[in-house]
Amino acid sequence: MTTSNSYSPIGVFDSGYGGLTILRQIRQLLPQYDYLYLGDNARAPYGSHSFEVIYQYTLQAVKVLFERGCRLVILACNTASAKALRTIQQRDLPQIDADRRVLGVIRPTVEAIGPLTKTRHVGLLATVGTVNSGSYGMEIHKLWPDVQLTGVACPMWVPLVENYEFDSPGADYFVQKRIGELFRTDPDIDTLILGCTHYPLLMNKIVKYIPTGVRIVTQGEYVAKSLADYLGRHPNMAAACSTGSTLHCLTTESPEKFHESATLFMHEEAEVEKIVIE
Ligand code: DGL
Repeated sequence: MTTSNSYSPIGVFDSGYGGLTILRQIRQLLPQYDYLYLGDNARAPYGSHSFEVIYQYTLQAVKVLFERGCRLVILACNTASAKALRTIQQRDLPQIDADRRVLGVIRPTVEAIGPLTKTRHVGLLATVGTVNSGSYGMEIHKLWPDVQLTGVACPMWVPLVENYEFDSPGADYFVQKRIGELFRTDPDIDTLILGCTHYPLLMNKIVKYIPTGVRIVTQGEYVAKSLADYLGRHPNMAAACSTGSTLHCLTTESPEKFHESATLFMHEEAEVEKIVIE
């Protein structure tokens, strides 16, 4: 595998634009590093695909980021973290390059919720893939065995966001429907995980329909802190990541559309390059 010695950005991957909400907060906390974002927009959304498809797509994306010089890749996508992270870490990385790392977004989120919930009843809104994988339940069980998790899949939410319909009147119907379902199933929930990196864009709608006093947990802040902590504990990796403060974005779809969305999701203009993943 060929990589440049000098340019070794931190790779950030999502099926589409959602990961930009995570990248924004990572860059706020760790502005010194170079970042390379990959949105597999041509094949998004991933949420309703099978395990095998999500795993293959994610592995391909990770390999692209490695080829471009990344030694550390963050899967800023819950669906990919839930369905592909463990297999990539355990089966693929030792064969590709044992010195590279791939991290996800579920563990940092789960670490954060333990001290936040008082009732010990936590809700999860996420894609079909993430909810059905049971990954949040397993991680919560390991770290906070007294916490009860109820998850509801929101299959229409990512398409609403990707199609810029997140502030439209139509979005209210789908947001209210899934939040209603969640709180009817468990009215004691006091902490709500938005377990999809696209969902912060629906925040104006979400706050309208959740019961008063429920705390909403978005992931960017926790993933950024967890990455800072990881780099602090792994000085060799920190030293291997280049520090030019640059941001470059790759997309498998239209660079023009990506550019427009990057401004919306990240509040910043981005330099975008179209790639083909095979
Ligand atoms: N943003 C991704 C996540 O966090 C999923 C979007 C998709 O379904 O592709 O789960």
